[in-house]
Amino acid sequence: MSRGKRGGGPRKGGSRTKKSYARGDRFTQQARDEGYAARSVYKLQEIDRRAQVVPRSGNIVDLGCFPGSWSAWVLERLGKNGKLVGVDFEAPELEGGHWIAESVFDVAPETILEALGGHADLVLSDMAQKTTGISGADHFQQIELARRALEVAVAIGRPGSAFVCKVFEGPEAQDFQRECQAHYKCRRIRPEAVRQNSREWFLVGTDKKTAPMPMPEPASDSEAPTES
Ligand SMILES: C[S@@+](CC[C@H](N)C(=O)[O-])C[C@H]1O[C@@H](n2cnc3c(N)ncnc32)[C@H](O)[C@@H]1O
Repeated sequence: MSRGKRGGGPRKGGSRTKKSYARGDRFTQQARDEGYAARSVYKLQEIDRRAQVVPRSGNIVDLGCFPGSWSAWVLERLGKNGKLVGVDFEAPELEGGHWIAESVFDVAPETILEALGGHADLVLSDMAQKTTGISGADHFQQIELARRALEVAVAIGRPGSAFVCKVFEGPEAQDFQRECQAHYKCRRIRPEAVRQNSREWFLVGTDKKTAPMPMPEPASDSEAPTES
C-alpha cells in the first residue's frame, strides 16, 4: 500500500530513506510494505497502543519530524479534525502538516503556537543527532534535545496534554525524568521496534499539570498607514 503524498510514501531517491531501509529487519520491511518513510512509526504506534496518547483530533507537534513516518501516521489519524506542526532541519514530503524547517533551538514556542492556532494536545519528540557510537557523547547531546523538547512542551501544552520524548539512557536520564515529573505523570516505554543494541527509550508524559504560556497576541494593525 502506498500512502501517497499526504500519508508520506517513501522518498524517491532520498538517501536517508535508503539508508534507513538498508539495515533490514521485520519493521523495516513492514515500513516499506506500508509506505512509511521510516520504521520509527512502529515505535509510536506501540507507545499509543500502551498509553493512548495520540488523539484523533486536536493540535499535535512533531519535533524532529523528518523523514516523516510519525507525522504521516498522525496526519492519517487526524484527518480534517486537527492540526500538525512539524519541526526539523528539513520538511517531510507530506501534505497536510505545517512544517518549520529550522533547528528546534531556533524556533520560539510562540511561533509554534501561532502555527497551531491554539495550545497543543500532544508534543512528540523523536529528535536525535547522528550518533557517534560513543554512548556517553551520544547521551549528552541527545539529552539536550530532550530538554529543549520538554521546554517547548511545557510552554505550549494545554493542561491535561501529553508529551512523548526519545531519550538515550545515560547519567542525565533520571534527572530528565524528574524534570518531566514536575509537569506530567510519567512512565518509560521501550517499544519492540527499538533496536536491541540501542540505549533508546521513550518518556511518556500524560495529564500535564502546569499551565502553558498565553497565546501570542494577534499581529497589531497599528502600523497600517493612516489616511490624512
Ligand atoms: C530519528 S529521526 C526522526 C524520525 C521521525 N520521527 C520519523 O518517524 O520519520 C531524528 C530527527 O531529529 C532531527 N533533529 C536532530 N537535531 C535537531 C534539532 N536541533 N532540531 C530539529 N530537529 C532535529 C534530525 O534531523 C532527524 O530528522
